[in-house]
Amino acid sequence: MAKKKDRRVRLSSDGKSSHVDSSTRRIKADHKLTSTSYTLFLFFILSSTICVILYRKLHASNAHKNMNAGSDLPYVYQRGLVKTDIHYHQVLSENMKASENSSRRNFKNAVLAYLTPWNSKGYEMAKKFNHKFTHLSPVWYELKSQDTKLVMEGRHNADKEWIAELRMKGDALVLPRVVLEAHPLNLLKKKKQRNKAVDLIITECKEMGCDGIVLESWSRWAAYGVLHDPEMRSMALQFIQQLGQAMHSITLEHSKQTLQLLYVIGPPRSDKLEEYDFGPQDIQSLSEAVNGYSLMTYDFSGPQNPGPNAPLKWIQYALQLLLDGTTHDHENFDQMIFVGVNFYGNDFIVSGGSGPILGTDYLSLLERHRPALQWDENSAEHFFVYSDKQNVKHVVFYPSLKSISMRLEEALSWGAGIAIWEIGQGLDYFFDIL
Ligand SMILES: *[C@@H]1O[C@H](CO)[C@@H](O)[C@H](O)[C@H]1NC(C)=O
Repeated sequence: MAKKKDRRVRLSSDGKSSHVDSSTRRIKADHKLTSTSYTLFLFFILSSTICVILYRKLHASNAHKNMNAGSDLPYVYQRGLVKTDIHYHQVLSENMKASENSSRRNFKNAVLAYLTPWNSKGYEMAKKFNHKFTHLSPVWYELKSQDTKLVMEGRHNADKEWIAELRMKGDALVLPRVVLEAHPLNLLKKKKQRNKAVDLIITECKEMGCDGIVLESWSRWAAYGVLHDPEMRSMALQFIQQLGQAMHSITLEHSKQTLQLLYVIGPPRSDKLEEYDFGPQDIQSLSEAVNGYSLMTYDFSGPQNPGPNAPLKWIQYALQLLLDGTTHDHENFDQMIFVGVNFYGNDFIVSGGSGPILGTDYLSLLERHRPALQWDENSAEHFFVYSDKQNVKHVVFYPSLKSISMRLEEALSWGAGIAIWEIGQGLDYFFDIL
């Protein structure tokens, strides 16, 4: 819990999105110049105005181009549903509807979609909206220590038939998630164990016909405290490097591509990067080994500190910390980032407690309480409050078309993709804007 609280970063009102706001900031600076010369003043006003108009025009045309590849708008835009002022009855009547053509992509960058074996709706969505995803990550595997041995658990989750079906429908890469649960001291210090881990992963990919994996280990290593030790930290990076190199040396029959490695990273937990955080230097040093980073920009709030799931400024701040230190000369690191977008929400008790809800829970809460949906400007998220039968006050944050579309635009403005957790937890019409 303490960890969650640490994530609350104090956000200054500016400085998060300098690249987005640069023109507006320039205008503010212009206005400070209280020139004695009237003409000079007029000139500034005019040039500022032109700046604003140009910026808006550019921005609008880009947003339009990016959000809408085809000639006509997606259904939810046509119906005017992507807005801050929304009503519960509209959500109830529209959430199942989407454009007839479910294969048209409206978001031009990469879309990584997680799905979990315990929620079959995710598998359904993966098939239905197949073309909207570039990467699909079923949450299947754990690499564990068993006595002194390493074992890959989760084969019972894996579904070859489903992969085959997806291959018939489209060309999204299938990259199951593997969590490295094995004790890091054994794994990182013993060459035999490292080789075994790499071998287990590659063997599983080959046997199941996957395109690679999404690896989650950094949070586990941080929990074990190994990342505080510089020597262990560098061994951890070396392991990822070894794995990536080994995977990239394998070319797949069906795609003629090499096995891909995506790596899961967390957002910084305080207002500056700590030694155990995954930072810009790490992105740079692993740029050959890793094909992309799934950035977990969700769970900003928790039962102990009820609030929005992923404030937009916090997302901007995380991206800035991660990407500003990287050089952009010949490598575009921005494109390697998949910005985390939650499709689940939270039903919090205002005084503390309770937790995640899925789309179906959200809809039944709307039906039961007929709440007024409110827009929180600060976080750019919708929420509502209600009192339960015991008269306990709750606050519910659940994503909306507007909140998601703003995060898509944010990702686009960085040249980044998105990573959705998880596609079985959202409402059908969310997929219309992807
Ligand atoms: C759906 O959209 C895709 C991509 O834009 C297009 O290739 C396809 O022809 C469309 N299908 C129909 C039935 O309009």
